[in-house]
Amino acid sequence: MEPAGIQQENAQLRQAWEQYSAEHLDTYLVSGVEDPRINIQSILTRAFLADALFPERFTALIHEELRYGTVLLWLLAQFKAGADREELREAICFTGAPHLPAFVTEAARWLATDACPLPHYIELALDPPPLDAPDQPLPERALDVFGAVWRKELAGLTAPRLSVFEAACGSANDYRTIHDHGLAPFLDYTGLDISGKNIANALTRFPTVAFRAGSILDSGLPDASFDFVFAHDLLEHLSGPGLATALAELVRLARREVWLHLFNTKPDGGHEIIPKEHYHWNRLALATLRDAGRALGCTVDPIEIAPLLQHKFGLQDYYNPHAATVVLKKTG
Ligand SMILES: C[S@@+](CC[C@H](N)C(=O)[O-])C[C@H]1O[C@@H](n2cnc3c(N)ncnc32)[C@H](O)[C@@H]1O
Repeated sequence: MEPAGIQQENAQLRQAWEQYSAEHLDTYLVSGVEDPRINIQSILTRAFLADALFPERFTALIHEELRYGTVLLWLLAQFKAGADREELREAICFTGAPHLPAFVTEAARWLATDACPLPHYIELALDPPPLDAPDQPLPERALDVFGAVWRKELAGLTAPRLSVFEAACGSANDYRTIHDHGLAPFLDYTGLDISGKNIANALTRFPTVAFRAGSILDSGLPDASFDFVFAHDLLEHLSGPGLATALAELVRLARREVWLHLFNTKPDGGHEIIPKEHYHWNRLALATLRDAGRALGCTVDPIEIAPLLQHKFGLQDYYNPHAATVVLKKTG
């Protein structure tokens, strides 16, 4: 992409995201299904980090956390559809009503056993939410369960620190949960976002962390600066040339792997590049991303989230059938 094109796209992207207030940017992508404590792709980022730090040590715990996210997302959908908490509690925890998905009743049975080391997060989720948070039907105590579990598991462990880079970090949207789960002391983390308001929010929460304002289209950082590079929900918002430039930049900055979390994909048929006011709302083809990743010297593994959860837990109706995470491993 030519420097003039980059400058123009950066200006438009800045305009698109800076139109929101700092308060809105601080909260709007971290609640409901986007809450990184239960969002499956956020759980995957933390799982990849934990597995890179302590290979295979936490495979069972990661599976448990993915199940937790799946169950809480299902409960959230029931609450949003107007389900009555006490009727749900009765059906899930006592009668095991046959119309309920098996992964929910099985999780409830496991959580009720003495052998289960986890708090009964379904019971916690069915408690009434605080009256001052009508838009957040899941109580904080249910949402905080795995933060406490991970902090306890990681306390006292040692590992060589990993350097990680997050593009489009928002207002520390994922970092706040990475931190709450006890992973931060193992990381040299750098977050980049084009919105100065987001970076100011992130630095208010974490004044000593390397949050920087800038664009992934021209980060100016040296090649292979970081072990791992990741981005949540970024590439769908770039132009065609911007997308190619950003992908090349993400791969260039990584020594080992890039994790692309995407919310709007399809298997093949080419990218649909869809302009929307100052930015884009694209539908990205996994086959095209695979070819682009290979051309940049990576192996490419797409993980489609709905089939992943169907395979692991039998979930039939994940809320976003287009979500996919693409893992690029550098081969050179
Ligand atoms: C949909 S939000 C996702 C934020 C966060 N990753 C999350 O999942 O909650 C997209 C983010 O990308 C940032 N962004 C857009 N274009 C960018 C660019 N060229 N470089 C860096 N950040 C960018 C925006 O400011 C915004 O914070």
